[in-house]
Amino acid sequence: MEIQILDKTFVPYITASQIDVEVQRTAKELLAEYENEVPVFLVVLNGAFMFASDLMKYYNNAAELSFVKMASYEGADSTGEVTQLLGLDIDITNKHVVIIEDIVDTGTTIVALHQLINRFKIKSVKVATLFFKPEAYKKEVPIDFIGFQIENKFIVGYGLDYNKQGRNLSEIYQIK
Ligand code: IMP
Ligand code: MG
Repeated sequence: MEIQILDKTFVPYITASQIDVEVQRTAKELLAEYENEVPVFLVVLNGAFMFASDLMKYYNNAAELSFVKMASYEGADSTGEVTQLLGLDIDITNKHVVIIEDIVDTGTTIVALHQLINRFKIKSVKVATLFFKPEAYKKEVPIDFIGFQIENKFIVGYGLDYNKQGRNLSEIYQIK
């Protein structure tokens, strides 16, 4: 069923159970990759909160977890500029870092995060994202763990917002 958020109409796109399948698969890939390590998961707020919460419940091995807050969106368009609203509060020196994102779109946010993280002497940095829009992506940073590759259209739900609303939806809706 269609839903209305502010001035826009959205249609159902990805169900909660489809999300769950890909979240579990991604967790398995991460468990295999960091089997004998203690990675630091760096969750990018606000959008990744729901993905990170479910992903971490499936990640049943030693790990550290922290949060950073970045913002590059105004309404339904990327501003191209990224501001850091909440910084790193843990020591990532000598750690394997995994950035957890809700969605990688143009890649501006990921590049800014890479710059922030690469100021420290870390062992490695990789990116895990629930959604990836290959047609919108303009950067060189590899996106290592991907839940869904999706077309270049705006989506909401499961943490992702439209003008601050829709984050609490348990399914994904696409703009009509
Ligand atoms: P990027 O910097 O252009 O890659 O955009 C990254 C951030 O923009 C994501 O972490 C989201 O918070 C937001 N974003 C990008 N695409 C969408 C979308 O389709 N719906 C909601 N938020 C989005
Ligand atoms: Mg995000």
